[in-house]
Amino acid sequence: MIKLSDRLQVIADEIKQGETVADIGTDHGLLPIFLYESGRSPRVILGDINQGPLEKAKENIAIHFGADALDSDGNHACGGALDLRLGSGLEPVASGETDVVVIAGMGGILMTEILGHDLNHAKSFRRLILQPRNGSHKLRWWLLQNGFQITAEHLVVERKYICEIMTVEPEKRTGTDVIPLPEDIPDETLDLEISPLLYESKDPLLVSFIKNKIRIEENVVGFVAEGTGEGEGHERIAAARKRLAALYAKLENAEAVMNDKTTGEEAES
Ligand SMILES: C[S@@+](CC[C@H](N)C(=O)[O-])C[C@H]1O[C@@H](n2cnc3c(N)ncnc32)[C@H](O)[C@@H]1O
Repeated sequence: MIKLSDRLQVIADEIKQGETVADIGTDHGLLPIFLYESGRSPRVILGDINQGPLEKAKENIAIHFGADALDSDGNHACGGALDLRLGSGLEPVASGETDVVVIAGMGGILMTEILGHDLNHAKSFRRLILQPRNGSHKLRWWLLQNGFQITAEHLVVERKYICEIMTVEPEKRTGTDVIPLPEDIPDETLDLEISPLLYESKDPLLVSFIKNKIRIEENVVGFVAEGTGEGEGHERIAAARKRLAALYAKLENAEAVMNDKTTGEEAES
């Protein structure tokens, strides 16, 4: 059986037994190979905007299932259970064609563009599993504004990064008009950046996740303070200090939750 990275395994574990999946931006195709090989998914669509990654996925399919697992057309494998499709975002997948859509390893803003390309199409699937490489707070804002509910959040370490994985369900609300991302998203409570769901689930990486953000902000304060400390620099330090205060409050709540002094809901209410 193929061994997934911890990140891809957390994504795989969000998929229920028997669910069909479209993996958009599949690249190496390792997630679809695991989902089919483990018997969790009877059918997986491997979508990618570039042919190169699909060729890579085919090589991995041949390694795991043998060269004769690929059909003569080269776009199907394992009797059609693995279905390779070239195209942008959800375009190569019909509405509701699979139960679940996975989009992992891309920027959060690109994900909003993929989902916003055709909102009704994006909402035709039962669940979406999203793992943005960056811009996760912007993605959360966009999802909540455009009629998606975030039902679960997970953190997982990959190399030196803590990755965020969101499970998302479309609301029944219809309408095709997309509410676009604004230039700036005020997030005074930091709830878009550090999901309250991580407190509820007592995610084991929550404290480290917040500490990483604190370290980055402290570096900003130290770096800018080395400059003039006047004018623009002064404003940047003031903004960083304000953000640090909010982050320390988040950290205190997280540590209390992890020490079981309070529930996640109380700490975040
Ligand atoms: C960094 S890889 C991520 C691979 C895999 N999903 C993972 O998480 O390990 C990103 C992949 O997304 C593909 N991609 C980028 N933009 C895309 C789009 N608009 N539609 C479909 N695939 C896209 C790229 O070609 C690349 O193969």
